[in-house]
Amino acid sequence: AIDIRGLLRDTGYITLDSGYMNTGSCESTITYLDGEQGILRYRGYDIVDLAENCLFVEVAYLLLTGELPTYDELEKFKFDMGKYALIHEDMIHFFDHFPPHASPMSILSTMVGSLHDFYPEMDLDEDPYGGITTTTARLLSKIRTIAAFSYKKNMGHPLVYPRANLSYCANFLNMMFDRPNMPYKIEPVLVAALNKLLILHADHEQNCSTSTVRLVGSAGVRLYPSISAGISALWGPLHGGANVAVIRMLERILADNRSYDKYIALAKDPDSPFRLSGFGHRVYRTYDPRAAIIKQVCHDVLASLDITDPLLEVAMELEERVANDEYFQSRNLYPNVDFYSGIIYRAMGIPTNMFTVMFALGRLPGWIAHWQEMNSDKESSRIGRPRQVYQGIVHRPFVPLEARS
Ligand code: ACO
Repeated sequence: AIDIRGLLRDTGYITLDSGYMNTGSCESTITYLDGEQGILRYRGYDIVDLAENCLFVEVAYLLLTGELPTYDELEKFKFDMGKYALIHEDMIHFFDHFPPHASPMSILSTMVGSLHDFYPEMDLDEDPYGGITTTTARLLSKIRTIAAFSYKKNMGHPLVYPRANLSYCANFLNMMFDRPNMPYKIEPVLVAALNKLLILHADHEQNCSTSTVRLVGSAGVRLYPSISAGISALWGPLHGGANVAVIRMLERILADNRSYDKYIALAKDPDSPFRLSGFGHRVYRTYDPRAAIIKQVCHDVLASLDITDPLLEVAMELEERVANDEYFQSRNLYPNVDFYSGIIYRAMGIPTNMFTVMFALGRLPGWIAHWQEMNSDKESSRIGRPRQVYQGIVHRPFVPLEARS
């Protein structure tokens, strides 16, 4: 690493790195990512092992405290997730005042930001776990209630309150789909799939939304509004919003007589803005390790629930054609985390416009861990303030209004 600050001081040079292709914004001990080899580890543990063996709350604990919980610690943390699941009743009125088809992402970002006012964030917060304060535990639990309530309001169905005897993922699915006179049957295979999906999304070092959380937080903004900003960044179709764009794209290809080559050609056309959603990644030069697991989960879920989804066929065929195409090969464009996840969410009954909300639920522990890391490290908590290379006119004599033509 080069001492960029020294370069500025000694030479006056500013590094121009639009898109931050090669700019490290901080030092971090949370997530290790090797994009050449397709390795992703949280706090040193491989995501393959974590996804196979852990609960999402266990991984959240790991990201936030640096260590996997003991049995007792995990039990206490699960208990707290149940304890904090309700949201202030006054917040429920918020839902009534969004327009009927409001985006679940705008609802989520608004409601998470407003938690700051309903649950004042304290400087001397209780921190029984060494890394998970009351403030963070509340957010982790309440975000899932907010997400499920926004769906119920959108559907016009009565709210289903969280149940303390259900696991994190089962509780969420129950709040989403249980209805009066139509009790929801919690399918273990869906709970397990959701658990894996959330784990695989839980952190990904300095991606756009995490960098946003850090940047906003670096100005001294508290946790809840910083996370609200991260949710907005995630919304973009080049980032978390790609999971929605993938399904729309697969539906389009299916409706267009499966004309794969037409869409592949369009994605390769330098004059067209169209891209194959769910392909490519800033860091990975090989298959995204998360996508490999998610693809397998997708097959397992559909097979065990005996669901045939034509979009899975379309996705697999598209992937195969792309894999044999020189354009995509030469640019190392492989399926990313968003390519197969939506097909699993569809099997769960989650509507397409909520897919990015699901991503946010998963990414939350990572965002919080980074916000905490930034605040605990004096060096990296310096306010984020990039420079620019000014290319405009440096000075012009002022022209009064009456003299302008
Ligand atoms: N379809 C077609 N071409 C692509 C794609 C794609 N999905 N992705 C990249 N390319 C091409 C670019 O056109 C460019 O070609 P060129 O060298 O001829 O100009 C080359 O590959 C490199 O692409 P960049 O845009 O420079 O790569 P960058 O690292 O800036 O972008 C990104 C990464 C945003 C993920 C990009 O691959 C993309 O837009 N993918 C589709 C959207 C998507 O799936 N986003 C989710 C990413 S994962 C996540 O955020 C959770």
